[in-house]
Amino acid sequence: MKALVLAGGSGTRLRPITHTSAKQLVPVANKPVLFYGLEAIAAAGIREVGIVVGDTHAEIEAAVGDGSAFGLQVTYLRQEAPLGLAHAVLVAGDYLADDDFVMYLGDNFVVGGITSLVERFRADRPAAQIMLTQVPDPRQFGVAELDAGGRVVGLEEKPALPKSDLALVGVYLFTAAVHEAVAELKPSWRGELEITDAIQWLIDAGHRVESTVISGYWKDTGNVTDMLEVNRLVLESLDPAVRGKVDGASELIGRVLVEEGAVVRGSRIVGPAVVGPGTRVTDSYVGPFTSIGAGCVIADSEIEYSIVLSRSSITGVRRVEASLIGHDVEVTPAPNTPRAHRLVLGDHSKVQISS
Ligand code: G1P
Repeated sequence: MKALVLAGGSGTRLRPITHTSAKQLVPVANKPVLFYGLEAIAAAGIREVGIVVGDTHAEIEAAVGDGSAFGLQVTYLRQEAPLGLAHAVLVAGDYLADDDFVMYLGDNFVVGGITSLVERFRADRPAAQIMLTQVPDPRQFGVAELDAGGRVVGLEEKPALPKSDLALVGVYLFTAAVHEAVAELKPSWRGELEITDAIQWLIDAGHRVESTVISGYWKDTGNVTDMLEVNRLVLESLDPAVRGKVDGASELIGRVLVEEGAVVRGSRIVGPAVVGPGTRVTDSYVGPFTSIGAGCVIADSEIEYSIVLSRSSITGVRRVEASLIGHDVEVTPAPNTPRAHRLVLGDHSKVQISS
């Protein structure tokens, strides 16, 4: 059995972060979201992984390498344009050959891994096995309609009028039967070859499609709100440790991880929170559910429920909340006179200013 991990796509909902980095590499508790997926695949006993990459291929390849750090053998498969999940299966046709495979969307986060799901598939081998979960707004997802016996009867991609509240989770298991389906597809209204259409094709052709409704936690980390939620969840089971330096005037409460080379002075950190390697926190408050990356500076500031990527600085700012701050960002207070906001914002930035 192989795995096909999708790490292309343009990440429009995470702009401007994704103007310069791949959405699958945005860190959750200081580890790229993609790595959690690769670890789950390795834990399920799968070794051969094809990673479908697009424009951000160099960055993904630099982060994952040959996969040996995860106990995996990674092959990179280039998708020239983000033409859909079923298109990614087409691109991977030769690599996958006749093997069964799990397709894992690199920006999805599944708590509890995929081991039991993969075991069930190995024993049962339907043409496709999908995971469903109840969501408040199904219109943003692929949606499944089940009959009274729980069998999947229909699937629709991002329907305006969803027939249920059961969304397709971004982890799918297939036998080689799916290749016939993807070869037959036409682009959807959004110009993509949809995996939901491929699964519908399998159903229509009389193949067996099984589903499991999961109540566990799942997020598509495509937007900032979900990213912050996943970060919160992962931090809740953080192993606290102090590997850097914390002075006597500082207080660490709850689960706090201070990574190597980090320095905390005159500050209060209320966990769960992680302070990345080489980061300096001085005269500040870091509140729950905050991940601060490597080489950052937090000085005379307050921050909570946020993710800060590496080498950014926040100086003299009260208070930052529910924020996703990119790499090499500087956040400072505006000077008192003139009373005006001075902004250098990337395309698609979203800023809330009290004025
Ligand atoms: C894709 C699938 C959709 C699924 C979702 C899960 O959506 O097309 O069926 O529910 O992933 O994350 P996309 O990320 O392409 O919007």
